[in-house]
Amino acid sequence: MKKFTFAAASAVAIVASGAAFAEPQAEVLHWWTSGGEAKSVAVLQEEFAANGGTWTDMPVAGGGGDAAMTALRARVLSGNAPTAVQLKGPAIQEWYEEGVLADISAVAEAENWANLLPASIAAHMQCEGSWCAAPVNVHRVDWIWANADILEANGIEMPTTWDEFNAAAEKLQAAGITPLAHGGQAWQDATVFETVVLGVGGPEFFHKALVELDQDALTSDTMVAVFDQMRTMRGYVDDNFSGRDWNLATAMVMNGEAAFQIMGDWAKGEFMAAGKVPGEDFLCASTPGDGYLYNVDSFAMFDVDGDDKVAGQALLAELIMGPNFQEVFNLNKGSIPARTDVDLAAFDVCAHTSAEDMSGTSERGSLLPSYAHGMALRGAQSGAITDVVTAHFNSDMSSADAVQMLADAVANSM
Ligand code: GAL
Repeated sequence: MKKFTFAAASAVAIVASGAAFAEPQAEVLHWWTSGGEAKSVAVLQEEFAANGGTWTDMPVAGGGGDAAMTALRARVLSGNAPTAVQLKGPAIQEWYEEGVLADISAVAEAENWANLLPASIAAHMQCEGSWCAAPVNVHRVDWIWANADILEANGIEMPTTWDEFNAAAEKLQAAGITPLAHGGQAWQDATVFETVVLGVGGPEFFHKALVELDQDALTSDTMVAVFDQMRTMRGYVDDNFSGRDWNLATAMVMNGEAAFQIMGDWAKGEFMAAGKVPGEDFLCASTPGDGYLYNVDSFAMFDVDGDDKVAGQALLAELIMGPNFQEVFNLNKGSIPARTDVDLAAFDVCAHTSAEDMSGTSERGSLLPSYAHGMALRGAQSGAITDVVTAHFNSDMSSADAVQMLADAVANSM
C-alpha cells in the first residue's frame, strides 16, 4: 500500500486549525462491522495511523446504519459529538441545519474536490456553499447476486425482467432451493422495494414516487403492481428470514443455501472477503429495468473542541479523498471510487458494469438517489415509507391497502 506523506496532510491541518503541532486525533462513528466492511474501514484506520493520527473506533453494528444514527443523536444531544461520523445524503444537510457540523472547506479547496467529483456527488457534500462531508465511494443498490453453481445446475440465466425472476424462483422452489436470501429488517425490505419500484415503474415513476413524493404516483396502479411483486417475493424467502442480518443472507448465497440476493454492492465486499470470484463463484446483474440507484457513503466532521481533533478532521478529510484510499477502500468495499480520476484497471467485472451504467444512466436521466439508503429523502419521509413497506411485507395486507397507507403516511410526514 502506498504511504502518504504527513507533510501534505499536516499543511492542510495547519491551515484548517491554526494548530501547528497538534497530533491528529479522531473518534470515528461508523456501522461497518461485517467482514467486508471491517476490512474496508481498516484501510482508513491504517492510513490515519501511518500519518501520525490516533483513531478511536466507535463502531455501531447494524446494517444500513439505523442503530448508528440513534447512537449519534444521543451523543450530539449530550453535547459530546464524535469527531467524524459516517453520514450521507440529506441527513448531512439535516445535521448542518442543527448547527453542529464543522466546515472542511479548507481541505476541500486545497485538494480541489470540486474538480475531482461528479457534480451530483459534490452537491451532497456541500452545505450552503461550504464543504461539510467527504465522500468515500459510490455504491449501487439495484443489484441481484446469484450463486453461479445453483443457476447452472438448474439451467437458469440471470433474470432480466421481473417475470423472468419469478419464473426462475418458481423453478428453484420446485427443486427445493430457497430462491431469495433475505434478511427481514426494515431497511432490507426497503432495499428490495426500491429496486421493484424502479423495475416495475421505470426511472420516471421512481423519481415521481420516491423523490418527489407525488401523490398520484404513490396511489397509482403501478404502485399496486409494485406491492403485488413484493407479495410474490415474500413467497420466495425461507422461514427464518425475520431479523436476519444482510451479510448472513449473502452467506446463504455464498454457501449454496439460496440462489439470489437483492442487495447493494456492499454484498460484493462480503463475497470478496470470503475469497469468492465474480463471474465464477457468484454472478452480479442489475435488477430488471433501466436505472441506477446510487448510495454514496461519506463522512461528516462534527464541531468539536481541541486542536488535535481539528487536525484529525483535516487529516481524515484529506485521506478519504486521496487516490490511494479511494482505490484500496473500494476494492474491498464492493463500491466504486467517488473520485472520477481513479484507474479502474484493478477492479472486477461488477465494478466495471457499475461505472459504465453510472455514466450511461447519468446521460439518460435515470441515475437516481436511493431512498432506502438515505440519499433521496429526509429521515421523516423515508421512515414513513419504510414503515409501510415493512408492515406490508410482514403481514397479509393487500396491495390496495398498502398503497393507501403509503399515501397517507407520506402526506402525514410532510
Ligand atoms: C449502507 C451503506 C453501506 C453498507 C450497508 C450495509 O447504507 O451505505 O456502506 O454498509 O449500509 O451496512
